[in-house]
Amino acid sequence: MIRRAGIEDAARLADFAREIFDATFGPWNDPLDMQAYMDEAFGEPQQAHELVDPEIVTLLAEVDGHLAGYAQVSSRRVPPAPTSDRPVELMRFYVGRRWQGRGVAKSLMEAVDAAADALGGTALWLCVWGENARATAFYRKCGFTEIGTTPFQLGSDTQTDLVMARTLGAST
Ligand SMILES: CC(C)(COP(=O)(O)OP(=O)(O)OC[C@H]1O[C@@H](n2cnc3c(N)ncnc32)[C@H](O)[C@@H]1OP(=O)(O)O)[C@@H](O)C(=O)NCCC(=O)NCCS
Repeated sequence: MIRRAGIEDAARLADFAREIFDATFGPWNDPLDMQAYMDEAFGEPQQAHELVDPEIVTLLAEVDGHLAGYAQVSSRRVPPAPTSDRPVELMRFYVGRRWQGRGVAKSLMEAVDAAADALGGTALWLCVWGENARATAFYRKCGFTEIGTTPFQLGSDTQTDLVMARTLGAST
């Protein structure tokens, strides 16, 4: 089941978001940089702030009452490379390890499309670490193509992310 998250989900989402970010990127990065980024991005106050932000839609995928994944979309930021006149950013897209490869990501992406459409978007864009082979493979499967690169700050480490985009409604 996929539903829009509310403020009451802040603590649960903060824990989940931190755990999956750490599992995905921890092995590749300095622990202090990871800590600095996660404290800022995934603290409960930050999650609560994002959950009440009218310009951010947070979607939760739940399986048998377990939080299996989440996604966030927003029309606030301008993409670092041109897409369409009404771009919507896929800010975060995460599926827990137990549920990867089981169709949760596809269902979540369909809900992302609907949310982005409701925000009035005509294109979806995202930033992803180029070495994240599983994520880039999944995004390509969903119709995204690379349109540029952009800096990403992880603590003290300035990295380079790929920027990917697709027309809204072009998901598989
Ligand atoms: C990215 C993510 C949402 C994709 O969901 P998923 O359920 O794993 O996606 P799928 O299994 O449907 O598709 C992943 C594709 O990558 C391929 N893949 C799997 N492991 C891979 C690996 N180690 N290297 C390269 N490709 C890989 C799969 O074969 C699959 O393609 P296929 O269906 O054509 O075989 C999920 O893996 C995830 O949340 N990962 C951790 C967090 C993350 O990286 N989020 C994105 C941040 S931008």
